[in-house]
This record gives sequence, C-alpha cells and structure tokens, in this order.
Amino acid sequence: MTENDFVSSRYIENQIEGTVTWKSPSNIALVKYWGKKENQIPANPSISFTLYHCATTTTLAYVKRNKEQQQERFSFDLLFEGSPKPEFKPKIGKFFERVEKYIPFVKDYHFSIDTSNSFPHSSGIASSASGMSALALCLMSVEKALNEKITNDYFNQKASFLARLGSGSACRSIEGEMVVWGQNEDVKEASDLYGVKLSQEIHSVFKNYQDTILLVDKGQKQVSSTVGHDLMHGHPFAEMRFKQAETNLSKLIKILQNGDQKGFIELVESEALTLHAMMMTSLPYFILMKPHTLQIINKIWEYRSATGSNLCFTLDAGANVHLLYPENEKDTVLTFIKNELVAYCENGQYICDQIGLGAELIKN
Ligand code: PMV
Repeated sequence: MTENDFVSSRYIENQIEGTVTWKSPSNIALVKYWGKKENQIPANPSISFTLYHCATTTTLAYVKRNKEQQQERFSFDLLFEGSPKPEFKPKIGKFFERVEKYIPFVKDYHFSIDTSNSFPHSSGIASSASGMSALALCLMSVEKALNEKITNDYFNQKASFLARLGSGSACRSIEGEMVVWGQNEDVKEASDLYGVKLSQEIHSVFKNYQDTILLVDKGQKQVSSTVGHDLMHGHPFAEMRFKQAETNLSKLIKILQNGDQKGFIELVESEALTLHAMMMTSLPYFILMKPHTLQIINKIWEYRSATGSNLCFTLDAGANVHLLYPENEKDTVLTFIKNELVAYCENGQYICDQIGLGAELIKN
C-alpha cells in the first residue's frame, strides 16, 4: 500500500449524522521507535505488545454542517472524562489538518468528541497511543458509513495510518497481540505507513504475557516525545542506533518464536536502556528516569538472580517502569511487587495489565 491508496476521493452514501464508540488500548514497545523523518515516518522499525486494560474509550457524534457553518476549517467540541478540555483542542485540530487529505469529510461535519481513559488521569502513562487510535477508528467508522464497500483489512490499515499521523506509536494500537511498524527485512508486509499484526506464531511462553506498570512519577514529562524524536537529527549515535533497532527486531522475532526467555530479557532491557541512553547523549541532553526508576531496576536484577525468575523491565519515555513476565509467575511477581517495589511508586500506585487483542467497537 502507498500513501495514495489512503486518499478517499468520493463517498457513495450521504450520511447526515451518526454516533460511534471505540475502545482502543495503549501499547508498550519492546524494540523502541525513537527518531522520525518527515510526515511521521519512523527512522527504524519497532514492535510492541498491545495492552488490554490501559485503554481510551471515545464516542464520536457527527452531524453534517450547513454551508453557513463552514467559516471555520474544522468544527468540533471535546469532552475529556466528562468535562470540556480546551487545552487538548489544538492537538486534535492539528490532527484534523494532517488527515484531511485522506478523509476529506472531516471538514463537512461537526464532531462532538467524548473521550475517557481507563487509567488514572495524569498517571504519567502516555495516553496519545490509545487516544489517537480511538479517534482514528471512530473517523474510519464515519468513512465506512459513507462508503460501505471498504473491507475490514483496509479499515484497520487506514485506521492505523491515520492514528500514526496523530502520534507515531498510536499506529501500533489497532490490533493485537503484537504489532510491527516500519519496513524491515524480517516482516515482509511491514510498512512505514501503518502497523501490521505480527503474523508469525509466537511461542506459548509469550502468550498472555503480563505487564504491571509501576507509577513512579505521575507528573508531566519535562521533555515531550516530539522534542525527543527531533533530537535524533544530528545525534552522534543515531545511525548506529537505527541499525541496532533493525538487528534487534530480527533477533526478537526469532526469540518470540523459539521461546528463549533469557534472550527476551536481555534484548528488551537493553532496548529500554538504549532509549534512555539516546536521551542522555543528545544535545541538549535530558534524563527522564528518576531515582526510584533505578532502584526498581536494581531490585528486579537482585530478584532475578536470587530466584531465577523471568521478570524483566522496559521503559517508555518517562520514569514509570513496565514489569514484563509470563503468566505462570503472576502470583510470585505480584507478591514481590507488593513487598519490595510498591514503596517506590508514587502513592503506592501500580496498574496490572496484560497483552490484549486490540481495539474494540463498542457501539455503532
Ligand atoms: O508516539 P510518540 O511520538 O509519542 O513516540 C513514542 C516513542 C516511545 O514510546 C518512547 C517508544 C515507542 O516505540 O513507543
């Protein structure tokens, strides 16, 4: 598929109004995307686990605008967790600008967007992946109402394509259980334009993998990911890092197939620390980990060497720690978290999640 395949030129139906609700999950990258080219094209391929509980539910009500209402380019209201949220509007407006070429109907309707997250507000969990993918899916349902001929495959691909234009990693939130984004040698169907479900069968030890997110710092990030991606331009280690990500993706796909848990731990933790190493070695440099992030990492390493557990960690662009582990270690790891790690979480908060199957249509 090329970019032009996602440009809708004409609509068959003339839908006046409607409402649709989608629930879309967050995702956690194992091989990280950090650095991009123009138009949200990733500098390297990435792969993620789709989450299950951490999700955004968005209801989109749409009604055709009449000619007099069309002075403004786009018309929408926004409710976040039941209240108006004017500070989110510029981001949505920018998203509409980026997607207009592909879904020209956005300027013909007034939209009421009502959105809420399953995870606590300002938990330091990035809501852009679940939020942007939920909105993209709602817009695709409008597209489907205007052109019933579109297939399910096209629906998902274009939802991912549109979500990517809102936030890169959001393109990996449409399907589950694992999604690859970015061209590479190992996954022939992968694309820079949208995420694809990993089609290779994964080993049973990686099915139902658990992700417990320790909320270390619930504050606003000091450096946004947009700025962080940008600092990879001219970064002294950029080219090596992009190559390493490709190699790691290739290695990880083999690990996922052969069930090599030790190999998984080494690769996933190295990816997390490399992401943060890129931040610490850019100019200007910055650190998103907090002292408690490092204390948790050290505790995990001690626990692993004492027990032989397969527990490992990964990090997003923030201080929170994602603990990844197989389902058969759930009870022992949760006891370890309660006894040893909760003390490092802000207000003792953590979220228990696991691999999920992707977004869900709630109402149409
Ligand atoms: O989707 P963005 O632009 O917010 O970038 C997110 C990048 C990381 O979360 C740090 C890594 C990833 O691949 O999800």
